[in-house]
Amino acid sequence: MAPSARILLIVSGGIAAYKSLELIRRGRDRGLSFRVILTPGGAEFVTPLSFASISGEKVYQELFSLTDESEMGHIRLSREADLVVVAPASADLLAKMAHGLADDLASTALLATDKPVLVAPAMNVMMWANPATQANIATLRARGIHVVGPGSGDLACGEEGSGRLSEPNDILDAIETLLGRERVLSGLKALVTSGPTHEPIDPVRYIANRSSGKQGHAIAAALAKLGADTLLVSGPTGEADPAGVAVRHVETAAQMLAACEAALPVDVAVCAAAVADWRPAQAGNQKLKKNGMTAQSLELTANPDILATLAQSKKARPRLVIGFAAETEQVIKHAEEKLKKKGCDWILANDVSAGTGTFGGDANTIHLISANGVEDWPTSSKQDVALRLARRIADHLRGAHA
Ligand code: CTP
Repeated sequence: MAPSARILLIVSGGIAAYKSLELIRRGRDRGLSFRVILTPGGAEFVTPLSFASISGEKVYQELFSLTDESEMGHIRLSREADLVVVAPASADLLAKMAHGLADDLASTALLATDKPVLVAPAMNVMMWANPATQANIATLRARGIHVVGPGSGDLACGEEGSGRLSEPNDILDAIETLLGRERVLSGLKALVTSGPTHEPIDPVRYIANRSSGKQGHAIAAALAKLGADTLLVSGPTGEADPAGVAVRHVETAAQMLAACEAALPVDVAVCAAAVADWRPAQAGNQKLKKNGMTAQSLELTANPDILATLAQSKKARPRLVIGFAAETEQVIKHAEEKLKKKGCDWILANDVSAGTGTFGGDANTIHLISANGVEDWPTSSKQDVALRLARRIADHLRGAHA
C-alpha cells in the first residue's frame, strides 16, 4: 500500500472536540494517520487517552515537556506531517494564529510549520460573526490558510446559526483535496480478486501456486483510495487486508466465484487472482495414505473461469471487466488472444518469466491491451501500477467511454 499521509491534528477547546475522534477513526479508514496536539481547552472536553486510543499514537500537550522535547520537538512535530489540521479551531486559537502568538504547543507548532494548514472553525454564532473573528479569518485566508466550514444549524450552546464544526467526512474530503488525493471513484463499486486459490486434495494437501497477492491487494487499496466502494475477494495470502476495503477471504476457485457473483452488480471488476485452472475431481475426506500405493494419479477437473464468467454475464456484467495475463513468452500476442477468449475489456499483460522478479516481487512491467491497442507502461512498483490502473479506470468510467 502507498504510505499513508500523516496529519498533525490540533484539537482546541469546544464541545465539538468529540467529533475529532470520529474524524480520526474515519480518516484512518481512508489511509491517513494522525498525531494529535491537544490544547488545555480541548482536554477539558475529551481526554488525551481517548485521542491516544483512537489514533494509536502518543498525544502531545505541553510545550515545555522535557521528554517530548527530547523525543519529538515541536518543530519536528510540525515538519513530519504532510498537513496540519486544526479541528475544531476555536476563536481563541484562530486569533493567536492571525497574530503570530506562540505561547503553547499548538500555537508554536502552527507558527513553526512549513506545511499546508487547514482550519475547521467551531464556535458560538456570535463569536463567529464578531468582526474580530472575521478579520482574523480574512487574515488567515490571505496568508494561504485553508478553511473548511463552519456549517450552520443548531449549536451546542442552544443557539442557531453559523459556527458548527463541519462534518468529519467534509473535513476529510478537504484534507484529501489538499493532499492531492482524488476521490474520483466515489459512488462507484469495484470488485477485485487477488492471490492464489488452494484446491484441496485431502484435508492436509492442496494444489496452489506462487501468487503473492501483492498486485491484487494494491489494486484494491488504490481503488478504495480513489473513493470506490471496494470488495476484495482474496485467496490465501500473507498480505494484510488493505485499509478501507471490504475483504472476503476464500480458499478455492468455486468459493471465489461464488463471492464474486454475490457482489454483483459492480461498476468495475479486476481479476488479479491466480486461480488454479484445475482442482482434484474428488477431494478425499480423510488423509490419503501412501501405504500400499505406488504412483498415484490425481484425477483433475476444470475450475470455473471467474474472469470469463463476469465478462460474459448476461444479468449483471460490470461496465468494465479487467483481467491479467501472466506470460513467459510472446506476451502481447498471448494477451490479445486472452482478451478475445475471455470477453473482457482490458488485459494487463506482464512478463513473469524467470529473471523478471515479477512473481512475488515488488515491481511490475505492464502492457495494457484493449480494443484500442497496446499501451506500454514503465516498470514501476506494484503500488504505482495499481494507482495508475485506478486512475485509468476512473477516466474510463467517468469519461467519454462511460
Ligand atoms: N482467471 C480467472 N479464473 C480462472 C482462471 C483465470 O478469473 N479460473 C483470470 C485471472 O484472474 C487472470 C486471467 O484470468 O485475470 C488469467 O487468464 P488465464 O487464462 O488463467 O491465464 P493463464 O492461467 O496464464 O492461462 P494459460 O496457462 O492458458 O496462459
